[in-house]
Amino acid sequence: MATSQSEMDETRPDEFETVVRDRRSVHDYSDEDVSEETLREVFDLVRYTPSGYNLQPWEFVVLTDEDDRAALQECAGGQEHVTDAPVAVVVLGNKDPAAHADRVFDDWLDKGYLPDEETRDGLVDTIEGWRDRSEEQNTLWTTRSTSLAAMTLMHAARSKGLSTCPMEGFDDGAVRDTFDVPEQFEPVMLVTMGYAAEDANDRENERKFRRSVDEITHFGGFEQ
Ligand SMILES: Cc1cc2nc3c(=O)[nH]c(=O)nc-3n(C[C@H](O)[C@H](O)[C@H](O)COP(=O)(O)O)c2cc1C
Repeated sequence: MATSQSEMDETRPDEFETVVRDRRSVHDYSDEDVSEETLREVFDLVRYTPSGYNLQPWEFVVLTDEDDRAALQECAGGQEHVTDAPVAVVVLGNKDPAAHADRVFDDWLDKGYLPDEETRDGLVDTIEGWRDRSEEQNTLWTTRSTSLAAMTLMHAARSKGLSTCPMEGFDDGAVRDTFDVPEQFEPVMLVTMGYAAEDANDRENERKFRRSVDEITHFGGFEQ
């Protein structure tokens, strides 16, 4: 039976809060491997990330082989956790906004989110028109939604008892060359993943400084 939004509102916030508060960027991982089943469960949750027009531009290169992770480590300035973690993920953003537009808007039409085929075709045309935007615009476009997917990945992993570390410290050209990433994809982030080493148990690590709610919010406008 379908779960209503209000039922979800009542049952899920505490679990979510625990996941959010527990997550830490972890560098030290145990020797325990992550099963393919667990990885699939994590990525199954990642699919539910929201994206502009639901265009879902993300794809993930999931590396578990030691040599592959060593190669990725070289692209990441030698950061040790890339090989210490049993899993390293290259988070890619598709810079072609229309890559999945047909399927997305067929779905909207089927489910009544769009009134008719003409509207569906108009939307596909609009998104296909985005292919003519600058490389810079489409890189920004894909980075927005793909970064959200990276965050879902980290929270989903945490909800399965895993720890992660996001990384922007890498040479994107080297990542492209080493892992044959097609030109149309932007390497947006790397994420290491595994079970935290006992002495790096992220529950016990003191939470790093966070700016206060008052400092980060501007209720009613920036000058308020
Ligand atoms: C976009 C982004 C890039 C980051 N790049 C790196 C990195 O290259 N190497 C690294 O060890 N940590 C990296 N971090 C992890 C941050 O240092 C970490 O999130 C921050 O210190 C807060 O700590 P916490 O995640 O444990 O709360 C990155 C985090 C983000 C969000």
